[in-house]
Amino acid sequence: MRITIIGIGYVGLATAVALAYLGHNVVGVEKDPYKLKLLREGKSPIHEPGIEELLEQSKEKLDFTDDIAGAVADADLILIAVGTPPKMNGEADIHYVEEAVRQAAMGMVSGSTYVIVIKSTVPIGTGRRVMHVVRKTLAKRGVEANVHVASNPEFLREGMALRDTLYPDRIIVGAETPKAVEALLRLYRPILEQTFIPPPFLPRPEGYSLPPLVTTDPTSAELIKYAANAFLALKISFINEIAGLCEKVGADVKEVARGIGLDPRIGPHFLQAGLGWGGSCLPKDTAALLAVAAEYGYTMPIVEAARVVNTRQRHLIVEKLQGELKILRGRIIGILGLAFKPETDDVRESPALDLVRILTERGAHVKVHDPIAIPKAKVALGELPVDYADDPYTLAEGCDALILATEWETYRHLNLAVISRRMNTPVLVDGRNFFNAEQVRRAGFIYLGVGR
Ligand code: UDX
Repeated sequence: MRITIIGIGYVGLATAVALAYLGHNVVGVEKDPYKLKLLREGKSPIHEPGIEELLEQSKEKLDFTDDIAGAVADADLILIAVGTPPKMNGEADIHYVEEAVRQAAMGMVSGSTYVIVIKSTVPIGTGRRVMHVVRKTLAKRGVEANVHVASNPEFLREGMALRDTLYPDRIIVGAETPKAVEALLRLYRPILEQTFIPPPFLPRPEGYSLPPLVTTDPTSAELIKYAANAFLALKISFINEIAGLCEKVGADVKEVARGIGLDPRIGPHFLQAGLGWGGSCLPKDTAALLAVAAEYGYTMPIVEAARVVNTRQRHLIVEKLQGELKILRGRIIGILGLAFKPETDDVRESPALDLVRILTERGAHVKVHDPIAIPKAKVALGELPVDYADDPYTLAEGCDALILATEWETYRHLNLAVISRRMNTPVLVDGRNFFNAEQVRRAGFIYLGVGR
């Protein structure tokens, strides 16, 4: 099929390379000249495991442009994957979606059929709004094209974007016309039937079973995305709330999580206590869900509480440190990890950055390290007086405490004894319960985990 993908961010790029790998002819539209230049050179503007390899392997089937109208004329499917940044009230702003769709309609030709697929996370009812924009634009141009709109939310995780795209748990399609469903069925058939040969570096997960295609109405599809992310967020906040109680009563939250996670009704995933959730989705989507509910005069106290617990979690970690050091003003604190989670350089809503801000506000001097996220962190932290260390050993030099904020696998191999000797006082707050407490203590540290 001929696919045009508008917006080459995380979702757009992962989808583009995966679909090209499956044999579709893909044109990616990216307005940012710098990103476009990189993409045309076969380089990825984002850090995502496997993406450059797949870009290379799929280059015959993959093209990039900044001209939406030109890329649309003979496309079978138009995928919208532009950003939907939060407005002041938390609602997702669909300004870029509308503009992308309007420009796409400028390229449509009379007599053709187009299926517009919304992959961006959008407020309830956006499908209808998109159809309205297309119809209005086509009418103005005097073009009579046959247009269908479908909602096809994605559930890919950063750092695992390609794996989640090629081996999804489910594919959700919300559409009102059989034509739209058929088009998406054709698009995803190689994934639904797993007929493709896996890339050597991305083998099919062991025990993976074929993903179900869930077809539903567009509104339900839009809500599925929000509800899924909100549920994940509250699962993490729940275990963080339990972690706080574990500390009071002397229990170990890892044991509690294991014990409850073995119940299949609860499940073992997303029960890792720590600094809480960040990133481009969970914070934004829970806020957007509350904004949608508010529009209808409805309250969602559980989702609200998940957000409150998540914010509190960062402060609790700082208080834990203060409990140990007593005074934070004038202390030197090192933060290990800045990305909102490992395997990505994304620092959006990263708990680590909040730690930097809170500690700086309390008069501490903060040093930071991250294997890849420093350039993005520098932009996000702006003028804040922070020292950026080249490696964890330099970071530790003269520190009164370290906080592990992102569980990068490379940190597992650190020589902790060397690190503790370089510090002023060897305190380690393990904000992700990542280290083995005993080993850390043996390396000379005072070890403080979360809920343990
Ligand atoms: C999320 C959803 O998982 C994905 O389905 C959706 O499409 C986009 O949003 P992502 O933002 O990439 O994906 O990250 P995710 O792996 O969900 O982690 C989110 C945050 O929760 C991270 O900050 C992570 O550190 C934190 N987390 C995750 C925990 O604190 N504990 C856990 O047990 C799991």
